[in-house]
Amino acid sequence: MTGKIVRRALYGAGVLLGLCLLAAALVYALSETRLRKDYAIHVAPATADPALAAQGKHLARSRGCADCHGDDFGGKVLLDEMPFARVVGDDLTRMPAGHEKASIRERMFRALHHGVDMDSRPLLMMPSKEFASLSVQEIDALSAYFATLAPVRHELPDSAMGPIGRALLVGGKLDGFLSAETIDHAQSAVAAPPSLGTLEYGRHAAQLCTGCHRGDFAGGRMDHGGPGMPPAANLTPHATGLADWSERDFIVAMRTGRRPDGSELDGKAMPWRAVGQASDAELHSIWLFLRSLPPVARETDAGDRR
Ligand code: HEC
Ligand code: HEC
Repeated sequence: MTGKIVRRALYGAGVLLGLCLLAAALVYALSETRLRKDYAIHVAPATADPALAAQGKHLARSRGCADCHGDDFGGKVLLDEMPFARVVGDDLTRMPAGHEKASIRERMFRALHHGVDMDSRPLLMMPSKEFASLSVQEIDALSAYFATLAPVRHELPDSAMGPIGRALLVGGKLDGFLSAETIDHAQSAVAAPPSLGTLEYGRHAAQLCTGCHRGDFAGGRMDHGGPGMPPAANLTPHATGLADWSERDFIVAMRTGRRPDGSELDGKAMPWRAVGQASDAELHSIWLFLRSLPPVARETDAGDRR
């Protein structure tokens, strides 16, 4: 009799325990589905401002980035002349290895404003000295544009200096090759460019020309010009410069690569295809600025070519 009761009690307890475990398992399972539910939310990386990106695209084309970084901005071998040097314009559609998580804006700022890579090492041949005057607004626009590009994958070698390049560098024959050495790194970027259409905007945009046409815009032999490279022209309103040119002549030359006398500009030496993509208002501003320069006689042709 007592044995039967004990057995029943035990049986009941067993069932109860079983039910409790079942309930616990159910609670766990039900809560788990809610706690682990995948809501499949995907936040798009900072929606680029389309207007800013469009301005960046215009800058990337008209300021010559494509000339050295490739038409698709996927990078390009610019010079492969070992034992002198091999210089490769980087892929701007992807962040460099090891820095995938860093921001494009930081990369642009480092390269354009300081002439250094993501490890703060000097870039070879990147004309950052001329780009260092770009405003924060313009660098933001370029960053916004490059952020919209789909990655391009070209097999590209790394840039490297060969023994002859190093010897020339040490011998002072490659001045400007390392822009980082000539940039004032303490100078902070201006917030925005001067208003479009003004002489001041022209001065701002024409900084790009100084790498070849020199600080006084009177031109002359270019440091980086190889043999057979024509000297940069005199852009000042002097008889040996653009004194006889009209604004129209200037704009037509930049758009077509032809001087008023019909002769052709050397498109390898003078990046007219890039400059010619600047808007009428930009070219008008540059013209106003060039006209405001003191006329400077061009250095004699002797020694211009090397
Ligand atoms: C005259 C050729 C030339 C022009 C014009 C030029 N670049 Fe470069 N750029 C280079 C070269 C060459 C390198 C790589 C140098 C190296 O590897 O040391 C480089 C490197 C860079 C880098 C650094 C990549 C890295 O390592 O993180 C950025 C960013 C860059 N350029 C952006 C631009 C932008 C934007 C423009 C236009 C506003 C531009 N470049 C115009 C030649 C050029
Ligand atoms: C990479 C070097 C380089 C840059 C950058 C450059 N130029 Fe030139 N430019 C030259 C060279 C070299 C010539 C001479 C071409 C020739 O003789 O065929 C030239 C010629 C010209 C001419 C023709 C003048 C003449 O009398 O033949 C004009 C105008 C001109 N450049 C304007 C500009 C402007 C404006 C900028 C900047 C927005 C600029 N260039 C940037 C190298 C450059």
